[in-house]
Amino acid sequence: MSDFEVIIYQKQDGIGYVTLNRPERLNAYNIQMRDELYQVLGAVKDDPDVKVVILKGAGERAFCAGADLSEFLTAPSPVIAREVRWERDVWGLMMSITQPLIAALHGYVLGSGIEMALCCDIRIASEDAQFGVPEMGLGIIPAAGGSQTIPRVIGRGHALEMLLSGRWVKAEEAYRLKLVNQVVPREELLSVVEQLANKVKAYSPIALSYAKQAVTRGLDLSLEQGLELESRLGDCLLPQ
Ligand code: COA
Repeated sequence: MSDFEVIIYQKQDGIGYVTLNRPERLNAYNIQMRDELYQVLGAVKDDPDVKVVILKGAGERAFCAGADLSEFLTAPSPVIAREVRWERDVWGLMMSITQPLIAALHGYVLGSGIEMALCCDIRIASEDAQFGVPEMGLGIIPAAGGSQTIPRVIGRGHALEMLLSGRWVKAEEAYRLKLVNQVVPREELLSVVEQLANKVKAYSPIALSYAKQAVTRGLDLSLEQGLELESRLGDCLLPQ
């Protein structure tokens, strides 16, 4: 798992660190990143030694400035560019991971960057973070779930405003919108995220996974079905 070029993967004391590593391109999401993330996340999903995952961006300026526009704009058509991005369903894979995923967000968090962050369970941002959905300016719509995940987190009106106007949101506003759980000084970002990861990883992996499933799957169900799901998952945790 060490032959990656645009992802760094490290495992330490039960925490899996996944770092987007193209700082000279503001960690723009390209096909190679898609392939490497797919490999790393697949391995993380099956690794019982990884209790919690931290997703972050390398360099000082960005978590991720969105899809790599040089690849995107050189594809034969936006439709093909979009299809290529879906050849490996990184987003589906992220959403199927049972361990808690925590996003450490700094600098630019745009397009695919915000979509990746929204596939995580908890988002901590530093004061310099800026969030935006620039797809309208490119004549496309989000392709990694953003049109569904953003309104589920911040509500229909705010999501549509971000999407339709392309307006960027700074960290404090992102906190008010509940797009992020917490905003911290830049120099404290990693340590705050690690403190949280250390707290989370101390709990039973199965209880964490069931709690995560109850919430994430339950949000797409009726209250009645959600309560049924909670009850079934809860029963599985009772001593037999
Ligand atoms: N795809 C490919 N390269 C990107 C990129 C992207 N999405 N975002 C930034 N880069 C590259 C720039 O081309 C530049 O490369 P260079 O040094 O070889 O010229 C480098 O990263 C630094 O970015 P730069 O534009 O010089 O920084 P800036 O501070 O002036 O502007 C942004 C930062 C984020 C405002 C600007 O880079 C931008 O608008 N990026 C595109 C955002 C976007 O539309 N993403 C797609 C969403 S679908």
